[in-house]
This record gives sequence, structure tokens and C-alpha cells, in this order.
Amino acid sequence: MRGKFITFEGIDGAGKSTHIDWVAARLRARAGIPAVVTTREPGGTPLGEDLRQLLLHRTMHLETEALLMFAARREHIAEVIDPALARGEWVISDRFTDATFAYQGGGRGLPTQRLEVLEDWVQAGLQPDLTLLFDVPLETASERLAGARAPDKFEAESRAFFQRTRDEYLRRAAAAPGRFRVIDATRSIDAIREELEQIIATL
Ligand code: ADP
Ligand code: TYD
Repeated sequence: MRGKFITFEGIDGAGKSTHIDWVAARLRARAGIPAVVTTREPGGTPLGEDLRQLLLHRTMHLETEALLMFAARREHIAEVIDPALARGEWVISDRFTDATFAYQGGGRGLPTQRLEVLEDWVQAGLQPDLTLLFDVPLETASERLAGARAPDKFEAESRAFFQRTRDEYLRRAAAAPGRFRVIDATRSIDAIREELEQIIATL
């Protein structure tokens, strides 16, 4: 049986990376799942990690940025995601295509139709079974990031950029309620874990 594909999304500093290993460990403790693979975008393969370095640190044309995100994703799907799902393994990815719609689409203003063409080409119908959207107001995200790490190219973006990014995430979640679960990530880590436990129990 094909495995399940779970993605974690949210603006920088929402707290999604804090929960990925915990969710993976909870799933590994469950009977019947042969393996749980954790991965991330941009990245997830040696080539993808090289592209990540360019994407996070080099300034480039908006369309180049979107194309490189999808190039890294093509490699990630072919080398990691599809083979694992075909073996019945579950895959948890720290970000996937919703991030491109939110950051390059919402944040930077690239028309959604452009991204939809690339999505159809690169994914050939592949969609996450579940997307967990960690949602916080901008103030909370920037407070959490302050002091936590040196900002990369995206983390150094303006407040207005992140507002558009968050709004696009929420718009996509409202448009696909069967796939998304919006997590109020302003709460404590323990409270969030309780909700995550309930959500993954339904998978
Ligand atoms: P993201 O992956 O969404 O960018 P991280 O998981 O790296 O965010 O979290 C950013 C910072 O916020 C980290 O220092 C982390 O310890 C802290 N953090 C994460 N979740 C919470 C939470 N629920 N409450 C308080 N601080 C949190
Ligand atoms: P992330 O791994 O969350 O960063 P960190 O390791 O600092 O937590 O994501 C890297 C950045 O890339 C993040 O700012 C969002 C951005 N991004 C896009 O702009 N488009 C995309 O398609 C993806 C996958 C990420």
C-alpha cells in the first residue's frame, strides 16, 4: 500500500520545524508503517541542497527563484518522495509547493497561474495527503526568530511580504479544507502537540 505524504507549512518563525521530528517519532511508534522519512524543501537531495544554498543566499529574478524551487522539487520527488511512497513509507516534508504559492506567489507577487503550470508539470498529480499549516501573527513569528538564528534572504524580508505570505497560506487552506489543518501555533509546544496527536490519529 502506498505511504502517506504529510507537509509542514507556515511563515518563518511559526514553529513548524520544532514539531517535525516529534510527529515522525509518534508515527514510527505506530504499528503498520514500514518507515517514516523526514525531509525538507528547498533541499532533500544533494542537488536540492546545493540549490537551497543559492535560493536562500543569492538575489535573483523572481521567475528564476520560482523555477529553481520547482527544479529542486522535481529532483526531490523523483529521488526521494515518490520511491518512498511507492515502498509504503510515509514522507514528512518541512515545506512543499504551498510554500511556493505563499512566498513566490503571495509574498513576491508572481501570478498564481504561472505556478500552477509548473505544479502540474513537476508533480503530475502528486499532492500531500495532509498539510499542517502553523499559523501565527507576524509579531509572534518575528519575536521567535529574533536571536534564534541569523536571517537568510527570506527571513530578512519586510513585514508586508510576510503578511502577504501568511494571507496566501490562509487563503489556500480555506480553499482546500480537506487537505489542510490550520494549527494555532501561538500556543505552547505541549498544547500544539496534543492537537497534532489527535490529527495524526485520524490518518
Ligand atoms: P520555523 O521552522 O517555523 O521557522 P522553528 O520551529 O525553527 O520555526 O521555531 C522558531 C523559534 O521559535 C525557535 O527558537 C523555537 O524554539 C521557538 N518556538 C517554536 N515553537 C514555539 C512555541 N509554541 N512557543 C514558543 N516558542 C516556540
Ligand atoms: P525553511 O527550511 O523553513 O528555513 P529554515 O531552515 O530557516 O527554517 O525554508 C527556507 C526558506 O525558503 C523559507 O524562508 C521559505 C522559503 N521557500 C520559498 O520561498 N519557496 C518555496 O517553495 C520553499 C519550499 C521555501
